[in-house]
Amino acid sequence: MSLKRDTSDSLFSRALKVIPGGIYGHVAPIAGLPRHFPHYTKSASGCRFEDVDGNEWLDFMCGFGAILHGYSNSEIEESANEQRSKGAVFNQPSQIMVELAELLTTNINFADWSVFAKNGSDLTTWAIRVAREETGRPFVVKAKGAYHGVDAWCDPGFGGRVENDRSHVLEFSWNNLDEFRSLLENYRNQISSVILTPYHHAAFGPSILPDHNFWPVVEEECKKNGIILILDDVRAGGRLDDCGSHRYFDFTPDLSVYSKALGNGFSISACVGKEFLKAASKEVFLTGSCWNDAVAMAAAQKSVQISQRDQVAQSVLKKGDYFCAGLVACAQDLGLPFTMTGPSSMPYPWFDGDDDLFLIQKFCELAAGKGLYFHPHHNWFISNAMEYTDLDLALELAGQAMNELQNLN
Ligand SMILES: Cc1ncc(COP(=O)(O)O)c(C=O)c1O
Repeated sequence: MSLKRDTSDSLFSRALKVIPGGIYGHVAPIAGLPRHFPHYTKSASGCRFEDVDGNEWLDFMCGFGAILHGYSNSEIEESANEQRSKGAVFNQPSQIMVELAELLTTNINFADWSVFAKNGSDLTTWAIRVAREETGRPFVVKAKGAYHGVDAWCDPGFGGRVENDRSHVLEFSWNNLDEFRSLLENYRNQISSVILTPYHHAAFGPSILPDHNFWPVVEEECKKNGIILILDDVRAGGRLDDCGSHRYFDFTPDLSVYSKALGNGFSISACVGKEFLKAASKEVFLTGSCWNDAVAMAAAQKSVQISQRDQVAQSVLKKGDYFCAGLVACAQDLGLPFTMTGPSSMPYPWFDGDDDLFLIQKFCELAAGKGLYFHPHHNWFISNAMEYTDLDLALELAGQAMNELQNLN
């Protein structure tokens, strides 16, 4: 099937004149997205979306993780609309901000307080400053290749940086505890925080789960050395455990940052923390043009309530198990060396030996021709709006694409 793309292409030409690069960031065509991806979306509902040319897609990217309960979820839209009728941004925060902080601190076992902003980056950067304020130390430790946002200390781009932007950032390879320990040894009493995602979900390569002793050692070393442990749960939050991904891997951070699924598509982020960091957190300035947006807060409140009521993390993991097992079985039948890495609710697809990404790009292109929106070099996301009948349809179509891929060889 060939995709219609006249409107998409003509919009992109217009965009190139008035927007640098036409589309920027991780979905910029220049970021290596093959041509079969549409540039613009018209509308979306449940687990499907329609692009501006009228092509319909069964979606496995969920707005890159921002959608957990399905696009235009009726309960969340209703809560947001009710708040919208009263107003969104005021001079002061609204009551809903207190309620949302109460909800998060009740749900998240180690959390005594919460702050809110609009994006994950706002609060990963803020969190490392809170750790610096608390400890009086300059360095931050992160995993190589981990993404924590768009700020200069961690963004994956190269533009506009000065040397000092990263002069206080130290890196170790995920799961390499010897490297981790030697950083702590070499920078004794100089490290304020360790910031990590719950498992390693870098782009352009398979996801890596923590070894069995990874989190116990990291947590213990941080405690022993007076280092603040920050969990960047921006991407995985809500997809592994309804009350934070630290529970899935059984450890306790000092600060945790959420965004993406928190508002189910409404722009909001939260950082929660332990009591002992409350004083330091008051010293690190935090605000924004629309930081107290009550509509996004109402959406987040409903989204979190639905997650708990319907045990959504378990549900997407179960759906993911079903889908991943089906896709891997299909590849095995065809003799293709294919695995799904990482947790099944946000799996990363990988063909063994496909280091130049040729096979996965081709597979995603063939799948796109059948209306499946699979990404060739970023983890996918399972939406809870996806029914088992949708998963069966996706497996059937993906199986056809695998078959065609096999026939190309
Ligand atoms: C793990 C992780 N941390 C931080 C961020 C930054 O969040 P935002 O894009 O909302 O600023 C992202 C975004 O993809 C992310 O995946």
